[in-house]
Amino acid sequence: MESRGSPLTTDLAGLLLRNPVMLAAGTAGTLDEMGSVLDLSRVGAVVTKSITSQPREGNATWRILESKAGMLNAIGLANVGLSDFEAHVSPRVAGMPTTVVGSVAGFSVEDYVRVAGAMGDIEGIAAVELNVSCPNVRHGTEFGADPRLLRDLVGAVRAALPRTRLIVKLSPVAIGTPHGIADLARSAIEAGGVPSGPNLRPGADALTIANTVPAMAIDPTTRRPRLANVTGGLSGPAVHPIAVKLVYDAYRLVCRDTGTPIIGCGGVQTWEDAAELILAGASAVQLGTALFADPRAPLQVIRGLERWVQRQRVGSIMQLVGGVVTDA
Ligand SMILES: Cc1cc2nc3c(=O)[nH]c(=O)nc-3n(C[C@H](O)[C@H](O)[C@H](O)COP(=O)(O)O)c2cc1C
Repeated sequence: MESRGSPLTTDLAGLLLRNPVMLAAGTAGTLDEMGSVLDLSRVGAVVTKSITSQPREGNATWRILESKAGMLNAIGLANVGLSDFEAHVSPRVAGMPTTVVGSVAGFSVEDYVRVAGAMGDIEGIAAVELNVSCPNVRHGTEFGADPRLLRDLVGAVRAALPRTRLIVKLSPVAIGTPHGIADLARSAIEAGGVPSGPNLRPGADALTIANTVPAMAIDPTTRRPRLANVTGGLSGPAVHPIAVKLVYDAYRLVCRDTGTPIIGCGGVQTWEDAAELILAGASAVQLGTALFADPRAPLQVIRGLERWVQRQRVGSIMQLVGGVVTDA
């Protein structure tokens, strides 16, 4: 448990992180692989690779491409699967020098419930993050694209996960209409399961905003899509201002009033990027693509945030959450 007294300590629905800088799902190995290049005891938290009920090879290559100001990926949720995770990865969770969030993905409500329930039972998993940017096999629609599908999914998972904090990672599909992200945020927060702990809510305890932005690249010579999967998701600096706007809308329209912490995610490379998300309404941030260019980027971000908090003359970074000054 972290001390509330440290200026960078942040509070995610009662889960205290030593600082607000987290490693994003799928960009830092399955659990602890980044430990060989980055002192994990310095970061706020690590999110595991998204785990599905069965192992997945993922899509054919090419499945990661560099693009202008970002990265395009269509990994297709390649992961070891729940049984392997339980047998070979979970014994290392409790010994991790930082908070661990278990990421869960699925293609049916039953899949999510099964994997989330198992994840919640692993010693040392402090919270479960639901990656809802996956198509529902029955409808073909992404769970995170439809407020009703999302409500049903989160309600079912909440009921199966009564004692573990639940973070829902929203998709950025709602770009363009402020109410789009607000509707999704509300669905995830209200959901409808039964809370059974002092800090637990009927749905999501916290939201991560957001995942990659749907995107595509074409080779003009071969006239073929550059990704074997044809389309993929854009991440990195190109998506950062989108993430700032989504966090801003979700915070002022829903999360400020419901007291739901937001974890901002999208294109964070520097402390200034992290500070923007915090001022828009995020209580923590995740770095993903930045780790591919510089695995130690989180340390620079943490140092920069420390100095920012001092210069802003506040005792805690939490006082800067949602602190953007607007005339509106
Ligand atoms: C190679 C790669 C793999 C990813 N895998 C996952 C994943 O397994 N689960 C998930 O929720 N997000 C996954 N993401 C999305 C990231 O966690 C993050 O939401 C997104 O990349 C935006 O943040 P960034 O711009 O800092 O990378 C992946 C992203 C990349 C680039």
